[in-house]
Amino acid sequence: MNRYYKIYDFELHGQNPQELHTVRTIDVEGQRICLVRLKEGYYAIDDRCPHAGARLGLGKCDEEGRVICPVHRYKYDAKTGRGLPAQGDYVKTYLVETRNDGVYIALEKKWWQIF
Ligand code: FES
Repeated sequence: MNRYYKIYDFELHGQNPQELHTVRTIDVEGQRICLVRLKEGYYAIDDRCPHAGARLGLGKCDEEGRVICPVHRYKYDAKTGRGLPAQGDYVKTYLVETRNDGVYIALEKKWWQIF
C-alpha cells in the first residue's frame, strides 16, 4: 500500500519546477531520494549509490536518462534503476506521478501508517 507525497506544487513552483536532464535530492519522510527529470517525465531512484554509498542526487544525468554517480561515475537508468551491464547492479526505483496540480511520489506505507 502506497502513500503519496507532493514533491512539486505547480501553483507554487510553476509548470516546470526542474530543468530537463537534471537530478536533485529530495527528503521524503526521512528518506533521501534522487529525483530526475527527463522529457518523458519525472523518475525517482534511491539517493544512495549501491557501489559505495555516494549521493546520486549530487551527480548528473546524461542524454540517455542515466544518472551518473559523482564519485566513481557508475551509471544507473533513471527509469529502471539498472546499472550498466558491466556493473551488474541496480538501484531501487520509486513511482512518480504527474497530476494536474503537481508531482507526487509514492512510498510504501510503514506498518504504523496502515492503521
Ligand atoms: S560510489 Fe557511486 S560509483 Fe562508486
